[in-house]
Amino acid sequence: MNNGANNTVTAEKKKKVLSLIQPTAVPHIGNYLGALKNWTQMAKDYDCVFGVADLHALTVRPDPALLRRQSLETFALLIAIGLSPEENIVCVQSRINTHAQLAWILNCYTQFGEASRMTQFKDKAANQADNINVGLFTYPILMAADILIYQADYVPIGEDQKQHLEIARDIAERFNGLYGKTFTLPEPFIGKVGARVMSLQDPTKKMSKSDPNPKSSVSVLDSPDTIMKKFKSAVTDSEAEVRYAPGKEGVNNLMSIYSGCTGMNFEQIENAFAGKGYGDFKTAVAEAVIEELKPFQQRFKELMDDKVYLNECIDKGTEAATAISRRTLDKVIKKIGLL
Ligand code: TYM
Repeated sequence: MNNGANNTVTAEKKKKVLSLIQPTAVPHIGNYLGALKNWTQMAKDYDCVFGVADLHALTVRPDPALLRRQSLETFALLIAIGLSPEENIVCVQSRINTHAQLAWILNCYTQFGEASRMTQFKDKAANQADNINVGLFTYPILMAADILIYQADYVPIGEDQKQHLEIARDIAERFNGLYGKTFTLPEPFIGKVGARVMSLQDPTKKMSKSDPNPKSSVSVLDSPDTIMKKFKSAVTDSEAEVRYAPGKEGVNNLMSIYSGCTGMNFEQIENAFAGKGYGDFKTAVAEAVIEELKPFQQRFKELMDDKVYLNECIDKGTEAATAISRRTLDKVIKKIGLL
């Protein structure tokens, strides 16, 4: 992570961080290693806003009862992994009215052509040809509003969100150029390992919540048994050598997951498994993942049994996030000439 030249903050002021996650399914280990784990690290050193992007989830027209349940579960999970609603802001996007307001304004400062270049829009449009709604198209602009409204310096994300970060910066730069410095230019924070965890069944594709094959991904709430089974059936290659190399996407992916959980680098992993087969390695990866997830699976269960506390936390996050984001929105409103 480096300090952008435009991000002039005084020494005593902590840098600001924002990131959200969609509640479209239980997060998988890609979400965890690519984003959530970094959130818990950053929460210690920065002023953070983390939350559930339920407005973004509407682009796939989820079942209302399911959306409600998964939004609460995702929120609980954020607390279960160690994000403290006391020390940071943990919130639900739709509860903070300012995001959607700023998103509309930013729509008017985004060119159709630049939004059309978003590869995720093209992919998603291809996957849901019967529902290519306008929300799917303007999705990155709402995401830009999420980020810019908190003047975020850093945005911890997986690699798949990098292009969305770039458009957020472009919009911010354009707006700043027209009206003077209004938004901080955000920088992506993408971890060295786990930034692109691949499907266990097709390691040329990223692990995705929308993959219909349940064996392709490991959810952070999967039982130890299920986790073991899924890793045992992970696609590798016929070489039977634990080595990070081009063409060995399945093994490379397992090594990245193992590295993300244990902190070992690829060389250390190769040495530790020299002469051993894929069976041993897959078992070790599954065990490392089970160990990593165990502490917060228990906490998650406890939290889901205490809805009163969860709702108090959501209200607290709403109040704090609204107050901070309102400042940016007021500034924008004034600059562009709204009454
Ligand atoms: P979402 O919900 O798809 O994913 C949440 C986070 O997980 C990362 N991620 C991955 N990382 C590694 N390997 C994978 N296979 C993998 N799949 C997903 C994502 O990069 C993301 O960081 N649009 C966002 C949510 C959002 C947001 C924002 C993020 C809304 N507003 C503002 C940052 C800032 C999304 O759909 O993430």
